[in-house]
Amino acid sequence: MSNPTSAATNNLEAFWMPFTANRQFKQAPRMFVGAKDMHYTTSDGRQVLDGTAGLWCCNAGHSRPKVVEAVQKQIAELDYAPAFQMGHPKAFELAARLAAMMPSPLNHVFFTNSGSESVDTALKIALAYQRSIGQGTRTRLIGRERGYHGVGFGGISVGGIVSNRKTFGTMLTGVDHMRHTHDPARNAFSRGIPEHGAEYVEDLIRIIQLHDASTIAAVIVEPVAGSTGVLLPPKGYLERLRKICDDNGILLIFDEVITGFGRLGAPFATDFFGVTPDLVTTAKGITSGVIPMGAVFCSSSIYDAFMNGPEHMIELFHGYTYSAHPVACAAALGTLDTYEEEGLLTRASELSQYWEDGLHGLKDCPHVIDIRNLGLIGAIELEPIAGEPTKRAFSAFLKAYDDGILIRTTGDIIALSPPLIISKAQIDELFDKLRKVLHAIA
Ligand SMILES: Cc1ncc(COP(=O)(O)O)c(C=O)c1O
Repeated sequence: MSNPTSAATNNLEAFWMPFTANRQFKQAPRMFVGAKDMHYTTSDGRQVLDGTAGLWCCNAGHSRPKVVEAVQKQIAELDYAPAFQMGHPKAFELAARLAAMMPSPLNHVFFTNSGSESVDTALKIALAYQRSIGQGTRTRLIGRERGYHGVGFGGISVGGIVSNRKTFGTMLTGVDHMRHTHDPARNAFSRGIPEHGAEYVEDLIRIIQLHDASTIAAVIVEPVAGSTGVLLPPKGYLERLRKICDDNGILLIFDEVITGFGRLGAPFATDFFGVTPDLVTTAKGITSGVIPMGAVFCSSSIYDAFMNGPEHMIELFHGYTYSAHPVACAAALGTLDTYEEEGLLTRASELSQYWEDGLHGLKDCPHVIDIRNLGLIGAIELEPIAGEPTKRAFSAFLKAYDDGILIRTTGDIIALSPPLIISKAQIDELFDKLRKVLHAIA
């Protein structure tokens, strides 16, 4: 008789892998079995340098001692506490600590379990807030072309990545989109923030004129669009966006699921750009990817608007069984300790020039049509193979993996976002290997 356990272990068919070319993967699996600091270990015993912090999340690097210890201790002490009508001390400690990291008035934190949930939570809070202040006609949500806000129905509705939307029906009604900010004709190979394109924000005025401000609850943007292949806000764009929202009673939501927790060289993009939105969505780096968690920051005026009515009544009918899960809170506290002790939330600002110089050094490689960077984010856009979009970048991804570096691709764009502990020697290694990859692929 065959051993059912080992048969099940070796069967790759059951797992429908997310955002993955399942058939390709199952023919030639790429398995990680371990991770430490800047490296993954593969099932065939190789070390792979992490050029993407997992999925933009392991900002403190992998299996860091403070985080491991915090999680182990927490599971043994308090494995779970009901999230509704009950609390546990670490949830309050973490919320207070996070709120202290954000500029005032972003003084309140709602916990979720992912970036997608953070986005849907922020959109719901925005709608409910407008209603609570007597602005119940404000039911429209405005996103932006090429935006990625996760995969919930709220997130894909305000999101602007066509392949993530086109198969899922009509989604939320009343949503509209500003145009994206990508302008390669004027901004290709810009170093850092691009000069041109602040005027694209005026598209919001067009939308306001079309629908009337009195119908619009909120605008959501990624301060730096990540998943679409790293699109940077042109100089002055975010400042003007804030002003238009203020002038029209529209809430501004920054989706900082990628930019949060040090990616740009400041704790949040909100600090980096000096523009304070009304709500900020986060996830990923909050626990350095160790335990699923997200957090939505909101301003005091939003929070206070809900704190009325009879005191025994629930103020916001929203939440998750695992909101502020004790183990996630412990992981987040251990992660914040690690960030603080090692100065990781500002480390990208020390490395960004070195990173930028190395990245732009790849300009002369075959197929490269643009390079973009900010903080410890980089993107290399490749000329697509005629009639076979995405294939060239995917070949680069496969070759890079074979050569010992983990990169991420979206369309024909290579995106890089290493853990914030990366050394200069490892930056050199990443770009040296990438150079060879770009020369090797068709
Ligand atoms: C800006 C942004 N928002 C939301 C999400 C969704 O996060 P999650 O995959 O944790 O649901 C992502 C994920 O990459 C993201 O980059």
